[in-house]
Amino acid sequence: MLIRPERPSDAGQVREVNTLAFGGPLEADLVDRLRDNCADALSLVAEQDGAVVGHILFTPVTITSGGRDVVGMGLAPMGVRPERQRQGIGSALVRHGLDLLRERRCPFVVVVGHPEYYPRFGFARASLHGIRSQWDGIAEDAWMVAIIDRQAMAGVSGMASYRDEFNGLT
Ligand SMILES: CC(C)(COP(=O)(O)OP(=O)(O)OC[C@H]1O[C@@H](n2cnc3c(N)ncnc32)[C@H](O)[C@@H]1OP(=O)(O)O)[C@@H](O)C(=O)NCCC(=O)NCCS
Repeated sequence: MLIRPERPSDAGQVREVNTLAFGGPLEADLVDRLRDNCADALSLVAEQDGAVVGHILFTPVTITSGGRDVVGMGLAPMGVRPERQRQGIGSALVRHGLDLLRERRCPFVVVVGHPEYYPRFGFARASLHGIRSQWDGIAEDAWMVAIIDRQAMAGVSGMASYRDEFNGLT
């Protein structure tokens, strides 16, 4: 399996992967909108036998803390073709993405997700760091952050804001 940046020619297969993984088009539509609007996104695919079998997207998230903006990333969405799930593809996408973001000196990554899944990659409850979600109704244990640059994140707390394209999805 190869993890690599999404290419323009992958768009159709990425759409299919997300539609199948989530059982509908909402997340695939979101990915299409962000691809058009967000130049700072990090979009990776997992390729097996020449086909896209998984996809992960990271987009900028801003925490305004003490009057200054700290920009990290939000992990969402991520999908793996149903028949290829539970074979380590999702984990490889998360790890590869976090490695790239560490190299790019991204200070943090937030995620809304399964509390049993993400801690293995270094995510912990965001509430432990005083980082709040912009959305009501997210279970506290599902709202997580991976602190990548401890120095840059020292004393940083507040609400984390995703791009506007995410509003309406939750
Ligand atoms: C979540 C997802 C991307 C994980 O990809 P994957 O390739 O199956 O993940 P991996 O094989 O690396 O890891 C499997 C582990 O993920 C966890 N996991 C996967 N789906 C889970 C779920 N729905 N609930 C809880 N844990 C889950 C399990 O702990 C599993 O470990 P196990 O096989 O030992 O039980 C994939 O299951 C998927 O596409 N799901 C549908 C879309 C989705 O919910 N995306 C995440 C929200 S953005």
